[in-house]
Amino acid sequence: MALILGIETSCDETAAAIYDSSEKKLLSNVVFSQVALHEKYGGVVPEIASRSHLEKVGFIVRQSLSDASLSLPRLDYIAVTSKPGLAGALLVGLCFAKGLAYAHEKKLIAVDHLEAHIFSSFLMDDGSVKDDLKFPHICLVASGGHTSLYLVRGFGDYELIGQTLDDAAGEAFDKIAKLIGLGYPGGPRIEKFAQAVAFQDFFQYPRTKNLNKTLHFSFSGLKTAVLYDLVKRGVYDLKSGIISNKMTDVVREQVSSSLLVCIADIIKAKVSLAMMRYPEAKGVTFVGGVACNSFLREQLQGLCDLWDKQFVVPPKKYCGDNAAMVSFVGSYKAGQEKFSGLTLDVYE
Ligand code: KG4
Ligand code: ZN
Repeated sequence: MALILGIETSCDETAAAIYDSSEKKLLSNVVFSQVALHEKYGGVVPEIASRSHLEKVGFIVRQSLSDASLSLPRLDYIAVTSKPGLAGALLVGLCFAKGLAYAHEKKLIAVDHLEAHIFSSFLMDDGSVKDDLKFPHICLVASGGHTSLYLVRGFGDYELIGQTLDDAAGEAFDKIAKLIGLGYPGGPRIEKFAQAVAFQDFFQYPRTKNLNKTLHFSFSGLKTAVLYDLVKRGVYDLKSGIISNKMTDVVREQVSSSLLVCIADIIKAKVSLAMMRYPEAKGVTFVGGVACNSFLREQLQGLCDLWDKQFVVPPKKYCGDNAAMVSFVGSYKAGQEKFSGLTLDVYE
């Protein structure tokens, strides 16, 4: 029996969760999102993120303990995200975790944020763990900082098989949303505007044909294509960077819808290619903040139905950054005796 506290501060969410490995169940999952703090800047400001983590981390950890009706001495392990992410933001969670581990004589477990996303596919709405997700499977991680494909062979056993060469999918949503005046974060707003016009492909943006034969992604050209298309339509002035009054909500809906359909096509092509290259994969999982997108979920579900493969996407609360996935990874790393010393540093 082991109780694992997970702490996550790699970007703009301060989160803590407790996982009970004997019951295979999450006992608490608390997330404080800093989105409102960063919104006016159109993206995450690292210094503001670190300060906010510093203010909130103690409170969030206490809340996770109180939700689980536990006190610190009852815990067995402390798992914390050590990489990748914003250095200052990671440092706050890491120092806090090290302090707790030292003061309460608990073993410390370093968790890779991407590994946490990869295995978030096992978490279910009621906090229990899926027992029918088969290995090996292909995992698509799509977030604000990453768009990667992995072949996942077992717990902690995964291989990177493709990744973005430039921008991440979430970054493309965020940058293009900013361009058309939808604000930050872009993904959910693009989805809402696209839904209003039933996901039609108005502008047929390019589908990165040059990368057809690889499992790598590229999204930076898409942003340029959208920009030049808007210039061509007289909606955007390149020199001044000013959006003209031709940028109505109708145009925003058309851009959002065309963009989402384009990104869905790119993602489906890559996942199909991955299934072709790795026929031993029994299914596909879709994780990370972008996996909150219902249209992308439906599209990938349809693709996996065609291929007769299992498709798993976690509940939305485990797609964006959270500590439930950190505590879960912590539980199997504890079982594998993969502990870190108190000299653990960020990026280790
Ligand atoms: O995993 P996450 O919370 O943080 C990172 O590790 O980056 O992902 C945040 C990203 C943002 O780029 C955001 O725009 C995107 O996920 N996102 C979405 C949706 N909700 C969040 N993208 C598309 N559709 C959504 N509904
Ligand atoms: Zn993330």
